[in-house]
Amino acid sequence: MPEFVTVATVEDFPPGTGRTVEVQGVWIALFNVDGSFYAVDNTCPHAGGPLGEGHLEGHVIECPWHGWRFNVQTGERPENPNITIACCPVRIEGNQVQVALPENFT
Ligand code: FES
Repeated sequence: MPEFVTVATVEDFPPGTGRTVEVQGVWIALFNVDGSFYAVDNTCPHAGGPLGEGHLEGHVIECPWHGWRFNVQTGERPENPNITIACCPVRIEGNQVQVALPENFT
């Protein structure tokens, strides 16, 4: 059973926004896409850029360093689905946004 951690309130994340949050000592990028919340590993697999500081368009986040893009719903890079980032479980409790690390997160 994953351990969920409260990282923000729903009001902190208007639709179309995102930023970096901390979950059990790990930096996670959290996004609100049209009212649905998604959390992924903050570290870009290209060279470690902070995805939580990237530009979000629809379900796609663009890394602020060199522009690699990832679908925050699936973790896949649209240009190359073999390159993925970890997706984290998210749940809403009242107005609290809670995130857990995936079981095999490293
Ligand atoms: S570090 Fe993300 S695209 Fe280079």
